[in-house]
Amino acid sequence: MTSRPNPFSLAGKVVLVTGASSGLGRQIAISCSRMGARVVATGRDTARLAETLCALEGDGHTSFVADLRESAQIHALVDAAGTVDGVVHSVGLQRLAPIKMVSEKLLNDIVGTNFIGPVMLTQRLLYKNALADGGSIVFLSSTAAHVGTPGVGPYSSMKAALHGLTRCLALEQAKRRVRVNCISPSAVETPLWDKDHLESQRARHPLGLGTPDDVANATIYLLSNASRWVTGTTLVMDGGVM
Ligand SMILES: NC(=O)c1ccc[n+]([C@@H]2O[C@H](COP(=O)([O-])OP(=O)(O)OC[C@H]3O[C@@H](n4cnc5c(N)ncnc54)[C@H](OP(=O)(O)O)[C@@H]3O)[C@@H](O)[C@H]2O)c1
Repeated sequence: MTSRPNPFSLAGKVVLVTGASSGLGRQIAISCSRMGARVVATGRDTARLAETLCALEGDGHTSFVADLRESAQIHALVDAAGTVDGVVHSVGLQRLAPIKMVSEKLLNDIVGTNFIGPVMLTQRLLYKNALADGGSIVFLSSTAAHVGTPGVGPYSSMKAALHGLTRCLALEQAKRRVRVNCISPSAVETPLWDKDHLESQRARHPLGLGTPDDVANATIYLLSNASRWVTGTTLVMDGGVM
């Protein structure tokens, strides 16, 4: 029997994962390492980022503490990462605020963390030619970008903005075969959620709540050669809610 290459393998690839100090980003980093990638993990919390680094399988992984709302720190991160084959933007911030109550500070925090940070990190990687030809960019969006939910306006808006960005950037980068896609998960148990609020979501989901592994597996697909013909899309993962 001849052995065929695994199209989902990430062997030989370097993947930069933001938000790697927690939740989905941490699991994505771990799963990428299991699929053979060398991971560059980034987040703000030094201790939690170190825990992620310890959980990675294989050799050669690195971590870099950076606040993605600070352009100097984005530049330093890109310099430290070197050339990468994939970037997963799992950085994110969710705060509940009906528009009647929203403050400019909250709006700036949500826009800066969920949109400007990921866009400017992508800009810097491209400007410095630090994303290899044939590379893959994955943004973590949310089902909040697809359906209205009271109190989620700023977060929902910025996740929807990532969809517009994905479609345009996919065309801008197609010549280099760099692919750009989004994943829109519904509720997955991570520190992003308050426990009671998460439990109240369970009954809405015909297939139950998602796990970080579910999202990590989809991310591996979008980073790997298995998705070489897929760009400019959003994959909804919601256990059947929508
Ligand atoms: N969990 C869900 O149900 C769900 C559903 C849909 C979409 N999402 C999206 O999936 C992504 C990951 O969510 P999660 O549940 O894993 O959230 P999480 O556990 O709260 O993790 C958020 C991550 O973002 C990092 N971060 C926040 N602000 C940052 C900044 N200014 N600079 C650098 N890093 C920053 C945090 O780093 P530090 O902790 O080190 O500060 C942390 O690693 C987010 O984009 C979220 O919107 C999650």
